[in-house]
Amino acid sequence: MNPNPKQYNDNNEFQRYEAAKLFSTIKDDFGPSPKFRSVVDIGCGTGKVTLDFLQYAKCDHLIAFDKNENMVEFARQNNKSNEISYEVSDITHSFTKLKCDIKLVDEVDLVYSVYCLHFVEQKAKIFNNIFHLLKAGGKCYLMLLYWSDLFAYQHQFAENSKWNKYIPNFEAILSQCAPFHKAMHPEIGDTVNEWRKLLETFGFTKCTITVEKDAYLFKNFNEFKLFLEPVCPIINMIPKSERKEFIKDYFEFIRINYNQKIKPYDDSYEWRYEYCIIKAEKC
Ligand SMILES: C[S@@+](CC[C@H](N)C(=O)[O-])C[C@H]1O[C@@H](n2cnc3c(N)ncnc32)[C@H](O)[C@@H]1O
Repeated sequence: MNPNPKQYNDNNEFQRYEAAKLFSTIKDDFGPSPKFRSVVDIGCGTGKVTLDFLQYAKCDHLIAFDKNENMVEFARQNNKSNEISYEVSDITHSFTKLKCDIKLVDEVDLVYSVYCLHFVEQKAKIFNNIFHLLKAGGKCYLMLLYWSDLFAYQHQFAENSKWNKYIPNFEAILSQCAPFHKAMHPEIGDTVNEWRKLLETFGFTKCTITVEKDAYLFKNFNEFKLFLEPVCPIINMIPKSERKEFIKDYFEFIRINYNQKIKPYDDSYEWRYEYCIIKAEKC
């Protein structure tokens, strides 16, 4: 994904809604007024959700990083706070490079991430780096998209529309940037077992991995479009000169097909999805 930061920042109410669930879980686990010395936010985007975290917990230093320089620059300008340092880095880098990029001095109390890690295929690299970021007794809370029935419609569009020439193998393209963006529902038990084993291999304990279903109601289709456009990986496959026409075709297809039951007096548009929360502790 390579979104326009302003467009993303103006249309990430969904991610903030999801983050509120993760931050409430942290509050439940750490007591009503959690206080941390240091925290890391992986894939902070434009920083709006990073600022939200400070409504749930106090912390002396929050290092928020993202691999996209434009997102980080936007965050530095628009979502600043004395406690937060925004840095550019990629969670798949070697730990030495990551540590240097984010200017990490000491290991931290808490690592969290909201709606970033489904874009990263190499889960082993993520878990290894998080293990090294944490001090002994530190915990991680990772929230990622698991699946949506929308993928089947994206797949159908990619296979059957005139744009197919630019998207020859939809599943392969999506699996490179988001392993679970598959038209077929991935088996939850298999995923949970695989990730738990991986976490335990790196030395994590008290690992819990849950997958929950939810549905989010956008006020109207245009709001859904504004949310989806910055995070839609197919758009990057289309030559820039043809993107305007592609976006028109693509969203018309989704609008008509994804939610077929048009309610005459209600413009709301539903997105159905499953999200995953991974919790683990470094002993
Ligand atoms: C959907 S946005 C979520 C941003 C923010 N956490 C929020 O909830 O609004 C996903 C972000 O993850 C970042 N990202 C994707 N892969 C990454 C990686 N390997 N390392 C760091 N950031 C990454 C993207 O650049 C993007 O800004």
